[in-house]
Amino acid sequence: MANPCNPCGACNPCGPCGAADEVELSAAQANAAYACIKGSLKAGYAKSGNQWVTAYQSWTNYAAMPYVSDTHGGRFVNNYANARGSNYGLFENAGPSPEGTVLAKDSFSVKPNGKVGAGPLFLMEKMAAGFNAESHDWRYTLILPNGKILGTTGGKNSAKVGFCIECHAVAEEQDSRFFLDEDYRK
Ligand code: HEC
Repeated sequence: MANPCNPCGACNPCGPCGAADEVELSAAQANAAYACIKGSLKAGYAKSGNQWVTAYQSWTNYAAMPYVSDTHGGRFVNNYANARGSNYGLFENAGPSPEGTVLAKDSFSVKPNGKVGAGPLFLMEKMAAGFNAESHDWRYTLILPNGKILGTTGGKNSAKVGFCIECHAVAEEQDSRFFLDEDYRK
């Protein structure tokens, strides 16, 4: 395989183009790729007008390095939580997320030729009790790299994010949170 180093040399934030063939990156390489693209990720998501986009990168990122998430398109991802949702950092011992918790997972792809591409933003917001029984009061939102909102629970195109609930609700004992692999925890 071609050398995946120097991902910044070819930083290309265009398009959510596919997810196949992710390369394996060292922590330093994955962090470098993210440093390269995080600004344009935020700028793209911001076109959605979603209120959390401008803030989320200043929250704590509970991933020690971006890691490949098979369940989110096979892209490299991070796991941010706002201050209200800081019990996320206790992982399996966290207990339920309080209302007002926001969890944000941004994503990017790295091709074997080193090109870094933007991926979607995955959001979970803990709403007031009674918001949605099926989602255990979580509002799921998927924002594409160009700022288009694919859907949001209880809002426009709610059905399009139904697949998020189908998977996440399985983790009922962990308040629908899966947490990340121990190897990648901060
Ligand atoms: C097939 C199962 C599956 C689907 C579908 C899925 N997720 Fe996840 N999600 C996971 C797993 C597993 C993790 C933790 C590990 C990881 O990051 O890959 C996770 C983690 C997250 C996190 C960090 C909080 C946590 O649970 O630790 C957010 C935010 C998130 N997903 C949002 C979404 C959104 C929004 C959608 C739909 C657009 C979605 N997910 C669809 C399985 C899924």
